[in-house]
Amino acid sequence: MMYTTESKIKIEPLPEGLTLQAIDVYHVYGLEHQNKVVALRGVSFDIKKGETLGIIGPSGSGKSTLLLSLGGMLKPTAGQVIYSDGTDLTKLPEESQFKFRRNNIGYIFQEQNLIPYLSTEKNIEMPMRLVNLPFAERKNRVKELMERLGIWHRRAHTPKRISGGEQQRVAIARALANNPKLIFADEPTGNVDSETSTQILELFMELKKEMETSFLLCSHDPVVGEFTDRTLEIRDGILIGEHLEGIDFTDLDSSRLLVIDNQNRITLPEKAISQLKGTILYTWELTNKGILLMPLGAKEEKKERKIKYCTTCGADIPPDTYSCPRCGAKLTRIVR
Ligand SMILES: Nc1ncnc2c1ncn2[C@@H]1O[C@H](COP(=O)(O)OP(=O)(O)OP(=O)(O)O)[C@@H](O)[C@H]1O
Ligand SMILES: [Mg+2]
Repeated sequence: MMYTTESKIKIEPLPEGLTLQAIDVYHVYGLEHQNKVVALRGVSFDIKKGETLGIIGPSGSGKSTLLLSLGGMLKPTAGQVIYSDGTDLTKLPEESQFKFRRNNIGYIFQEQNLIPYLSTEKNIEMPMRLVNLPFAERKNRVKELMERLGIWHRRAHTPKRISGGEQQRVAIARALANNPKLIFADEPTGNVDSETSTQILELFMELKKEMETSFLLCSHDPVVGEFTDRTLEIRDGILIGEHLEGIDFTDLDSSRLLVIDNQNRITLPEKAISQLKGTILYTWELTNKGILLMPLGAKEEKKERKIKYCTTCGADIPPDTYSCPRCGAKLTRIVR
């Protein structure tokens, strides 16, 4: 048991082997008088030490909000974000959060956020300046990282004068600068072609082996799951399922493991819901094989709302479909 010096909050380290634990994280955007958007609806999961964890989900499903909340850049509306030493980031004052982040987390943003007027070398050096690492050590570390990532020959260029893939490597080197135990990468392959994307994902796998760092990679592209130890799926701010190594990214709906989350919710696959044609009441029975859900009563076709277009992306929606085949957005289907 120990106490943080700043806040005198009692903290207990996480169980051995865990780097981070998110517990019932909610985030609501919008001020008092504005329309609110509930971007995260009670997200709970662990990241293990040395693990590469993927989070995949369509645009707008809450990936960036989740990463920003875990990294302390955004204050969750409710919930806890606990690191291995027991620090709950949501309870720290802003200044301490900043310090904690600088020393423990590397962050690769969706928009790389490189400083445009500084050379790539100076960009990578910046996090080390912030923790007052001596000049010689900074220089050595920058060289080591740039050589490792194959961008040393681009050290004098500003970000605008190098390719998208090279910019991504600069962002990765900057995230690795202070040897963090955990790296968050938001769409790390978002702005590059598929060949560069594979190279970057392979690089993460190598770095993970070399450095015992945990990675949390999020992307709208399920192929990321091929490069991770485990992948979680997020939809509308809820974690709906998990894929272990060997993800079948061509058919997530059939291959996902369903999760009963911290709040005892379970999200049924789209395939099951559409075959049951929108029935909303079920009786249930525990059998020797598992839980059997039985739709109650006959299907009342006339009560079903015909949804023609996705309200999120505008795609045409085929009959008996309850989430958008293009963007994955959940469509309102219950009309009582
Ligand atoms: N600053 C904001 N104010 C209000 N709503 C926001 C804000 N940022 C995001 N949202 C909304 O919150 C939800 C989740 O957004 P988020 O950016 O986390 O999604 P994402 O999964 O990262 O999407 P993408 O793949 O497009 O990056 C979306 O409905 C989005 O419109
Ligand atoms: Mg995003």
